[in-house]
This record gives sequence, C-alpha cells and structure tokens, in this order.
Amino acid sequence: MADLRANVKLRKANLDDMLKVLTWQNAPGARQFCRQPETISLDDHKVWFEKKLAARSSQVYIMTESGQDVGMLRLDQITPESDQYEVSLIVDQHNKGRGIGKAAVEAAKNLIKSGTILAEVLPANIVSAKLFVALGFKPYEHPDGGQWFYFQTLKA
Ligand SMILES: CC(C)(COP(=O)(O)OP(=O)(O)OC[C@H]1O[C@@H](n2cnc3c(N)ncnc32)[C@H](O)[C@@H]1OP(=O)(O)O)[C@@H](O)C(=O)NCCC(=O)NCCS
Repeated sequence: MADLRANVKLRKANLDDMLKVLTWQNAPGARQFCRQPETISLDDHKVWFEKKLAARSSQVYIMTESGQDVGMLRLDQITPESDQYEVSLIVDQHNKGRGIGKAAVEAAKNLIKSGTILAEVLPANIVSAKLFVALGFKPYEHPDGGQWFYFQTLKA
C-alpha cells in the first residue's frame, strides 16, 4: 500500500464543512464510541459547529486525502492557559481502515509545538486504542477516570 501519510493533510474547517461533518458523525456505527451516542439533529449540530469554529480554545480541521475530504480532527485546549489538548477524530465511514485516522493524528502532533495531546477512548473502541498506541501514545491516569492516552510533543 502506498504511504498514505504523504497524501493525508489537515486543513482548517469552515462553515461550508458543516453538513458533511454531520453526515460523518451520524453515519451508521459512528456514534457508538462517542460520549453522546444519540443521533445529532441538524439544529444542534449547527449551534455546536459554529461555536467550535469560533472558539479560541478549539482547532477544527478537515482531513483530506489527495484533496478529498475524508474526516474531521479537533484539538480542544483543556483550559485557556493549559498546554494540554484533547484530540477527537472521525473518519468518513467509506474511508475507515485505510490508515487515514492514523495519518491525521500523526499530522496533528506537529500542530502542537510544545504540549500534551490527550485522547479519551471508550473501552470498546479497539481501533481507536490501536491507533493511539501505534503512534506512541501512553496510558494516562485521568482524574475523572476512563481510558485515556497521552502524547508529549517535544519543545522546538
Ligand atoms: C477511530 C477512527 C478515527 C480510526 O480511523 P481509521 O482511519 O479507520 O483508522 P486507521 O485505518 O488509521 O487504523 C488505525 C489502527 O486500527 C487498525 N484497524 C483499522 N480498522 C480496523 C478494524 N476494523 N479492526 C481492527 N483493527 C483495525 C489499523 O490496522 C491500525 O492499527 P495499526 O497501526 O496497529 O496497524 C475511525 O474508525 C472512526 O472514525 N471511528 C468512529 C469515531 C471514533 O471512534 N472516533 C475516535 C474517538 S477517540
């Protein structure tokens, strides 16, 4: 298989991405590993998406592969002064299992110059856990419990 990493890129999301992100998020099987497993309504999604795009504490990216939009990756700063960022991602159901999620998280590491990337993975989400472990993330003891992983980026 050709090395996907060269073809997978992250671009800043914009309002035109709103509907495709909702489609990815509501696709069959997509919500079972989310904190809120219910289907998302268009109205709720609009409010959420606009708020995320506007938030200084959030960076919302669209994953592209060879120019095609194939998923979303988000980095949410845990608190305003914190150097900790929670990563969340979703890959379009037709593009899962092709290494895109892995390549996108690898690319996201370069976006955080100095800090810690955290990821919460629900216990049944084997693919997600494999992805983070393969990229060098280590288990993280979160004060609130749950299965978390962390990756410390290096200072420049
Ligand atoms: C989790 C998710 C982002 C992974 O993205 P992806 O592009 O499908 O994953 P990749 O193809 O990069 O694969 C990641 C790892 O899982 C493995 N994998 C992929 N699909 C698999 C499957 N069906 N069964 C077992 N392992 C699988 C890959 O081999 C790879 O492991 P490796 O590095 O040890 O080889 C994607 O499945 C998704 O969008 N899921 C729904 C939302 C979600 O769970 N988000 C994460 C919440 S933290």
